[in-house]
Amino acid sequence: MELKLDPWGAVHVDDYNKLFLEFGISSFEEILPQLKEPHQYMARKIIFGHRNYDAVLRAMQKHEPFGVMSGFMPTGRAHFGHMMVMNEIIWHQQQGGDAFAAVADMEAHAVRGISWERCRSLGINEYILSLIALGFEPNEKSHIYFQSKNYKMRNLAFELGREANFSEVSSIYGFSGETHISHMESVMAQSADILHPQLKEFGGPKPVVIPVGADQDPHIKLTRDLAYRMRKFLVEQREGYISIRGKAADQELMAAAEEALLETGLGRVKRYEEHIDLTEIQDGLGRGPAALLEEIDRIIINLEIEHGHYGFIPPASIYHRFMTGLTGGKMSSSKPESHIALTEDPKEAGKKIMRAITGGRQSLAEQKKLGGEPDKCSIYEFLVFHLSQDDRELLELDAECRSGRRMCGTCKKDVAERIERFLREHQQAREAARERLPEFGIKNLG
Ligand code: TRP
Repeated sequence: MELKLDPWGAVHVDDYNKLFLEFGISSFEEILPQLKEPHQYMARKIIFGHRNYDAVLRAMQKHEPFGVMSGFMPTGRAHFGHMMVMNEIIWHQQQGGDAFAAVADMEAHAVRGISWERCRSLGINEYILSLIALGFEPNEKSHIYFQSKNYKMRNLAFELGREANFSEVSSIYGFSGETHISHMESVMAQSADILHPQLKEFGGPKPVVIPVGADQDPHIKLTRDLAYRMRKFLVEQREGYISIRGKAADQELMAAAEEALLETGLGRVKRYEEHIDLTEIQDGLGRGPAALLEEIDRIIINLEIEHGHYGFIPPASIYHRFMTGLTGGKMSSSKPESHIALTEDPKEAGKKIMRAITGGRQSLAEQKKLGGEPDKCSIYEFLVFHLSQDDRELLELDAECRSGRRMCGTCKKDVAERIERFLREHQQAREAARERLPEFGIKNLG
């Protein structure tokens, strides 16, 4: 099956491992041991891949500034899939990150034709209330915003547009002569969403992680490229030394870079026409070029900013698996039977669970004989993703199911009850959140 990641179309990701090879996404499992208290999604391999999360992790552990950012297109009801992104934002905020959540009303309006009024109402009533109910906290470094109202982001989007041309975005997104210009603008808006937490006004360049589903990877890759193109220097490790190469950096900037490098006293600085080499590296601690690369890059980044440039760090990302829809196939906002909305009537949600497709067999007799298939069960998935905090419980369930001792009816009833309880509590918390909207600078629309 051909793998295609398409942010606006159906996504076919049947083999996540292929993503590592074909798209250059790194395996999350490899860095998992570095996390002392990983989020449940991480520990349970629901978050399966990342780009550059190492940088975020280092900042997190050294208590240095870092951020988290993601966005929601207000096209319909928020469901458990969206909740994963919300929880990932909130977790990183709790780890000390500056948190940004965008309601992508420009994208919804441009790509799906949703009216501004409806964007506003869906944005608040579906996404923002749940985000607050789940624990997003207001503070001076965290922001929930509508794209259309965020002019720092929009100005940056315009600026980024200078670095991306039509043939490039066409080949990434399949744009053609028929594609609306606003659709293209919404792509730049998303890149600006991702990069604007790194503006000086928001505390300057810092590692920022973007939690998303794998379908959003084209945006991430493009934005990482754009971040790189906005840089004035390319700082790279070479054999035995560090090369600092100017990219259209003027002579004043080159001279400033030379001076800044001399000041570090970390090695011999040799300036050429368009690049500077830092050789004979010696920091007194025996660290070589590899260990000092990030530090040197940081010095150059700060210099770029002093001179009025952006100095963006390529954004990091983490990718989670999609939940299977209750009707099989993908969970989708446009198919009500396939998902459970966070605002769903709890009783109705319970009924959807009772009707869901499980990993059960054709008949009771067959299931007793062959056992069920929890890895193909949308109900079991709900427990793994959301409704069970207890790994041991999951292991036992899995074993009981496979051995044919546990039947689907029992599981469904159990999960239906848990969903109903969860939704009742969440919906109460949402009502409390409504009162708190002004704390987030958002007027209540009721
Ligand atoms: N395009 C995303 C979606 O379809 C929404 C989005 C907008 C977003 N801006 C973002 C996601 C920034 C991550 C980061 O759901």
